[in-house]
This record gives sequence, structure tokens and C-alpha cells, in this order.
Amino acid sequence: MGTTGSYDVSRIGASVDAEIDRLGGQVELFWAKESQRYAGYGLTAGLTVVELGCGPGYLLEKLATAFPGLNLHGLELDPLLVERASRYLSEQGLDVSVRQGSILDTGYAEATFDFAVIRLVLEHLPEPMTAIREVYRILRPGGRAVFVDNDFEMHLMSFPPIPELREVYDAYCRSREDEGGNPRIGRELPVLLAAGGFVDVDYDVISAHSALLGDDLFARSEGVGIPSRLVQDGYLSSRTLGLVSSRWRDLLRSDGHALIRQLHLGTGRRPAADR
Ligand SMILES: C[S@@+](CC[C@H](N)C(=O)[O-])C[C@H]1O[C@@H](n2cnc3c(N)ncnc32)[C@H](O)[C@@H]1O
Repeated sequence: MGTTGSYDVSRIGASVDAEIDRLGGQVELFWAKESQRYAGYGLTAGLTVVELGCGPGYLLEKLATAFPGLNLHGLELDPLLVERASRYLSEQGLDVSVRQGSILDTGYAEATFDFAVIRLVLEHLPEPMTAIREVYRILRPGGRAVFVDNDFEMHLMSFPPIPELREVYDAYCRSREDEGGNPRIGRELPVLLAAGGFVDVDYDVISAHSALLGDDLFARSEGVGIPSRLVQDGYLSSRTLGLVSSRWRDLLRSDGHALIRQLHLGTGRRPAADR
């Protein structure tokens, strides 16, 4: 797939299947906290909802299951992922339509949705404001959008600390930036949403802790696929990756160890009087 940003499921990790599994891990890692935020922001039965950049459909499955009675839609740029999401959701017996298209120009009519989720997409786009304005356009007046992104300065902490992880994330940032993305966009979300005309803007950081969720989910969500690709592409030395892998293994054997990961949420509403 030719990408228009810094995410290509066929290139970012070790294989398409490994990357899709990693995305599934990331949904599991944050779902308990994330679902509380969606409910707090007004997600409830009867609403017409879209996830833009829905990938393989794991978040759509969670939304459909936890919030029954939604009229739920997915939009995804990559035809491979449209196919994977459609198949996965129908295998789960869920009535969610997924179609191919770009968040930059969705093709949806103005004021179609009550609620929109854009998760781990904005950080990969060279033109995030174009996406924000398009989300605003397709929300009905009074409707709400939730943008969920990383900020790789505030991404993963560990105990005992693994200092070389900083080198991995710096390499990741250089790689994504070279492709047009902004892997530190998390901190910018409230300012970008206000600039896009959203009101009632709010911002939050949610955290996942290995003592509560188990180590395996963190390994699944981080994985070695992306760091190995950074080595292949010349952004990271194999020595650093080897060191991080061995320190990660030591950490898992140490008493009282901790892995903590964070996600940044920005949300706002299209003004009710905006017509
Ligand atoms: C990191 S994945 C996140 C997938 C899903 N939202 C999740 O949280 O698991 C980013 C997704 O955004 C999609 N994407 C990238 N650019 C897009 C665009 N312009 N329009 C729609 N989707 C896009 C990618 O193909 C990919 O599926």
C-alpha cells in the first residue's frame, strides 16, 4: 500500500499478522480505562458512531460489545485492513459496516455522526488539521470526537529502569517523522482540537500497569517487530536492541518490577449551535 503518512501495516513491523496482533494487544492494554472515558464522554446506546482509521477492527469489536445498541461504522484507508476488519467483525457476529476511505476526505455527509473515535491515527498523518476539520464536518452539531494518540516522550516507563529504551523511542520518532508523522502529537491534542473549532475540549492521559494487567500484554503491545524494523532501516543499532531485550528479560525476573504505558486522549464537541 502506498501510505500518505507514517503507518503501513505491511512495513511497520515484522509481518502483517504480527503487527495486527500487536494492535490487538494495545486495545486490550487500555480498554478498561478507555471504555470508562468513552462512557464519561457520553457514548451510549442509540448513537451513530464511527471509528476512523479502524485498522483490523479490534476497537470496533470492543465498542460494539460494551455499548450495545450503537449504530457503528468503521472507515479505514488500507484495503487489506478493511478486509481483515470486515471478516473479523462478521466472525464475531457483529453488525458493523467497515468501508475503505481516508479520514482526510471521508465521503460521509456533513453532520452524520453523534460520536467519533480516532485512535492512533492522527500521529501518523502529515496533515492532522485536515483530519480534525473533516471529523468536525461529519459530526452533527453537539456531537463529540475522541482522539487517542501516543506521545513518545511519555510512552513507557519501567522499574527497574531500562535507560536504553529512550534510544529505541528516539529512533522510532525519527523514523515516523521521516515518513511525515508526529509521534509526539499527544501533548498537542487540546490545542489542535480548539484550533479546529471544537468546544468543551478536554485532555487526559490513561495508564496501564503490568502489576494489574500482567507482563504478557506489554510484550504483545510493544513487541520486537517494530524495533527490529528500526534496526533494518538504519535508525537503531542492533547492539542497543540486544541490550534492551536482555534488560527487559532481566526486568521480568526481578521482584516488584513494573511496566507502565500511557495513551493521550483529546476530546471535544462540535458546537450545538453550529449549522
Ligand atoms: C496504528 S493503527 C490504529 C488502528 C486502530 N485505530 C486501533 O486503535 O487499533 C493506524 C490505522 O490508521 C489507518 N490510517 C492511516 N492513515 C489513514 C487515513 N488517511 N485515513 C484512514 N485511515 C488511515 C492505518 O491504515 C491503520 O489502520
